[in-house]
Amino acid sequence: MIEGIKEALLTGIREGKDPLSTIVGQEDTKEKVIASLLAGHHILIEGPPGIGKTTLARNIASVLPSLVTVKGCAYHCNPQAPICPLCRIKAAQGEIETVGVPGEKRFIRIQGSPDLTAEDLLGDIDPSQAFKYGPQDYRAFTPGKLLKGNRGIVFFDELNRVPEKLQNALLQVLEEGIATIGPYDVDYPADFAMIATMNPREHAGVEELSDVLLDRFDVVRMGYPETEEREREIVLRYGLKFDGVEMPEEVLDSIITLVRATREEPWSKELDQGASPRASLALYEKVQALALMGGYSRVKKEDIRRVAISAMGSRIKPSPESKFYEDPLGLIDELARKVLSGVILV
Ligand SMILES: Nc1ncnc2c1ncn2[C@@H]1O[C@H](COP(=O)(O)OP(=O)(O)OP(=O)(O)O)[C@@H](O)[C@H]1O
Ligand SMILES: [Mg+2]
Ligand SMILES: [Zn+2]
Repeated sequence: MIEGIKEALLTGIREGKDPLSTIVGQEDTKEKVIASLLAGHHILIEGPPGIGKTTLARNIASVLPSLVTVKGCAYHCNPQAPICPLCRIKAAQGEIETVGVPGEKRFIRIQGSPDLTAEDLLGDIDPSQAFKYGPQDYRAFTPGKLLKGNRGIVFFDELNRVPEKLQNALLQVLEEGIATIGPYDVDYPADFAMIATMNPREHAGVEELSDVLLDRFDVVRMGYPETEEREREIVLRYGLKFDGVEMPEEVLDSIITLVRATREEPWSKELDQGASPRASLALYEKVQALALMGGYSRVKKEDIRRVAISAMGSRIKPSPESKFYEDPLGLIDELARKVLSGVILV
């Protein structure tokens, strides 16, 4: 259980606040995530790109309260019960100094990728320190991200992009709560809550997560914004607004309709992946930019078509069976034409 998080969450909830207020909608997901955090479980959020997974995880970090730790300790050792060799020596000599660590420093981010290494996760030997103290000395050891997350949250983005070997290394830490580092006799306790994200399994370039690893997580599925109103709220809250540029309601409606059409039938049948709120945000910002560039103050609906391809082209994936498989831009152009001419209505 991560110190302070339960109290922080419950205080917020009792005061009638939404602790995850950066996320619009997604009540079901939020409820599950909060329940898992209160229970001290690791969480795996599964969902397509661009739906707020990272935003949600960062929000959790902002809920973390500050913590008293041993000054200068990378593991955020508890002064009362230090776990790393250096702090233990300091404790024995009565030399422990304490320092407050702000909540956001208790949040460690790891980007999952095929070339992530066990050293990144667990740690490595610092050659200059090894020269000074000898390679077997723990002072030569630079902790990896999992250990730096001790007493905090480790956010593992795109967990299913890491190679299988690393999944096994991670599993050991999650199972035993300690990391055994190659040449050292010392086991490093790693007490953290992990929040991982993964894109749905059907996407290319992802590893299958092993069942034993999955078993360590509460899996929470997250999807696209539930309604047009919510998507509109996301855009208005997070989209850039250009001074002196006016966005008529009708244009915003068309943007949302266009993007959402890629997730709904019949167009969703052509697509393995529809466009996310990132596409809505990009369109919203780009049509304003066009107005600025063109020297007019009111965004024009027709401008959507001019930016649709650049804002959406790389964000959709036509399915292999679709006639648009080789021509995603054609799909966007046709869709934009239909939305703008009113064939597809809000
Ligand atoms: N439900 C939502 N509430 C608030 N913001 C959202 C929501 N859905 C999407 N967004 C916005 O969309 C953008 C992308 O969100 P984010 O980066 O968190 O997505 P992600 O799911 O982590 O994507 P990826 O899988 O590509 O990493 C952000 O600007 C975010 O504010
Ligand atoms: Mg993300
Ligand atoms: Zn320490």
